[in-house]
Amino acid sequence: MAEFPRKGEYVFVTEKRIFSGMRPTGSLHIGHLSVLQNWVSLQAEYECYYGIVDWHALTTGYDDHLDMNALIQEIALDWLSVGVDPQKSAIFVQSNVLEHAELHLLLSMITPISWLERVPTYKDQIQQLGKEEGKDLSTYGFLGYPALQAADILVYKADAVPVGEDQLPHIELCREIARRFNFMYEAIFPEPQAIIGKIAMLPGVDGRKMSKSYHNAISLTADTQEIQTRVKQMITDPARVRKDDPGHPEICVVHQFQQIYNPREVAQIETDCRAGKVGCVACKAHLAATLEELLAPFRERRVYWQEPGRVERILREGRERAHTKAAETMREVRQAMGL
Ligand code: TRP
Ligand code: SF4
Repeated sequence: MAEFPRKGEYVFVTEKRIFSGMRPTGSLHIGHLSVLQNWVSLQAEYECYYGIVDWHALTTGYDDHLDMNALIQEIALDWLSVGVDPQKSAIFVQSNVLEHAELHLLLSMITPISWLERVPTYKDQIQQLGKEEGKDLSTYGFLGYPALQAADILVYKADAVPVGEDQLPHIELCREIARRFNFMYEAIFPEPQAIIGKIAMLPGVDGRKMSKSYHNAISLTADTQEIQTRVKQMITDPARVRKDDPGHPEICVVHQFQQIYNPREVAQIETDCRAGKVGCVACKAHLAATLEELLAPFRERRVYWQEPGRVERILREGRERAHTKAAETMREVRQAMGL
């Protein structure tokens, strides 16, 4: 069980640094676990900074009147409950460390607009969110999203960034901005490497992409009941009416989950399914039990961190540690730029 770090106890284990962040846009689901598990295991080897990037949430949600405090609490609890450890990592809120904004501004001086416009998600998102939600994303802030992300990473001089595959273009842009800065002024910034999670994409229970907005996700906080319900909703092979009908695991959502969560047994499950030797009810029960085992420890840790004041304290202490490093970088940056 995690405990509070005592003052003076934060000894980072190496010189190598990690930054990563997530937008506080609602509770996380098991589709986020692959990235989060990387965050957790990297703590053993790196000095880790994990930021709740509330300014990034505003780039698309600027008129949503978000209850940012509640969203921040929620995502911090999610991180803590999967094992992000405040004794090892700095966990903090982006807008509490103003150096992110200063570096974003300075990097904007040297970032060509064309670099930002050619980020693949840029025009897609404008189109998509514009059409689906009537949102106007032709803003200065949204165009600058990846430059702000670069500032998040570079202000800690991070060597590596554990993210989902969808973030690769942003990390590439960050590297280009770092290179340009290093060339123009002074070689201050490492060119950060992306570290990608093992699981590319987890389907939702209905076979589409897992997403809270599709109501097809299993949340990290899921209790036994929610796990049961969601697994029951999973789409299986419609050809299997009776238990001994031969099945086609390749078109079954349950099977995709078995591949990820029961990798050692999946070959047997597949054979039995094809031979009509295992029924979908039993197959689902087995998956539900595995997910229960996976999520139960998260629920337990969450109870600890939910006590009033604990998250606030972690974020306060995380802010101090992040600020110390960010301020140090900014002194070098200002000097390099002649400020
Ligand atoms: N763009 C990232 C996402 O949507 C969030 C993010 C912001 C981030 N700044 C970052 C991720 C810096 C890694 C590093 O998931
Ligand atoms: Fe899917 Fe399992 Fe049913 Fe086969 S037995 S169709 S893998 S749920």
